[in-house]
Amino acid sequence: MQSDTVLIEDYYNSEDFAAIKNFADGKETPFVVINNNIILHHYNELTDNFPYAKIYYAIKANPGNEILSLLRDRGSNFDVASIYELDKVLNLGVSPDRCSYGNTIKKRKDIRYFYEKGVRLFVSDSEADLRNIAREAPGVKVYIRLLTEGSHTADWPLSRKFGCQTDMAVELLLLAKELGLVPYGVSFHVGSQQRDIGAWDAAIDKVKAIFDWLRDECDIRLKMINMGGGFPANYLNRTNDLATYAKEITHYLEDDFGDDMPEIILEPGRSLCSNAGVLVSEIVLISRKTATSLHRWVYTDVGMFSGLIETLGEAIKYPIFVEKSGEREECVIAGPTCDSADIMYEDHKYELPLSIEIGDRLYWFSTGAYTTSYSAVEFNGFPPLKQYVIGAGTDQA
Ligand SMILES: Cc1ncc(COP(=O)(O)O)c(C=O)c1O
Repeated sequence: MQSDTVLIEDYYNSEDFAAIKNFADGKETPFVVINNNIILHHYNELTDNFPYAKIYYAIKANPGNEILSLLRDRGSNFDVASIYELDKVLNLGVSPDRCSYGNTIKKRKDIRYFYEKGVRLFVSDSEADLRNIAREAPGVKVYIRLLTEGSHTADWPLSRKFGCQTDMAVELLLLAKELGLVPYGVSFHVGSQQRDIGAWDAAIDKVKAIFDWLRDECDIRLKMINMGGGFPANYLNRTNDLATYAKEITHYLEDDFGDDMPEIILEPGRSLCSNAGVLVSEIVLISRKTATSLHRWVYTDVGMFSGLIETLGEAIKYPIFVEKSGEREECVIAGPTCDSADIMYEDHKYELPLSIEIGDRLYWFSTGAYTTSYSAVEFNGFPPLKQYVIGAGTDQA
């Protein structure tokens, strides 16, 4: 079990945290502050560790304009999930050849929309979708998404719903050719916040089998592997660092592909943005259910429906920092709405100081990804979670 005593220095350098804290002081809670300097640091770390890969930022992690602009200026490409995300990046001046339509679930008219806007790279994992792509986006490059193992070692698994088995992937790539599309490559996503680096090994082995079979049996030469996201953010449950992920994954690729390395795409979301964000909330109420109860209930002004949905099943355990210290006691931590599902942590009881009071602030570290974009628009009347962006590319140093 990790200690719940969260130290700033385990998550932020003092300068980056001071910038966030100074900006946050005095502002009405709840809100997230993103420090773009930290996103930039993670982007550079990723490109340094995977110098051979093309980055397609998964916009869904955080679609903030300042973040998209920062990554646009750094040369990133974009993994786009919907026509709305597409409009967003195109309006920011990103050219369509830097976009991939990365959602396997799409309407025919949306496929047409992407095609008309100039996007030429599409994912698929089913025959019906592939036929729609052939009809609405003739001649584009397609890559087929594989089902992957490893959902039990990912904190936020993405399996079952997406991808198909290896045999079907081969059939779909053959069908793509028949339909006049370009069978371009294979993708997978090993699950978000994947703690087992071996999950990439198993997936790359499957991809290699597909590449070999299509080359040997059908003279189709695939050109690209899209290895998705899954790279780590810094939460309470620690992972290896990115350099270790990169070293291992590069070995797996070299073992399978040697000198014949295809184009490699990465689609990071969480690993770029999470650590850059601090969600600042205020304690609304502290209570006990009986006079002798050994733990308190701490209700805060942010909850499951206002950005913390990834606490569902207590999957993601955010580090929670408070400015008070002293003797600690276990707490259940819950949100402000009239819905009993709005409890973030009950099984895993965070220990917070006995001295905390109503009105004190809780700082939720590593909340820069999958928080503001998930927030409900009006549940119980509460407005969506606000986001401020400071640092690189903004006028807030
Ligand atoms: C297709 C696709 N690519 C990339 C990502 C980003 O993954 P992560 O946040 O683990 O980096 C996601 C997340 O849902 C995804 O659906």
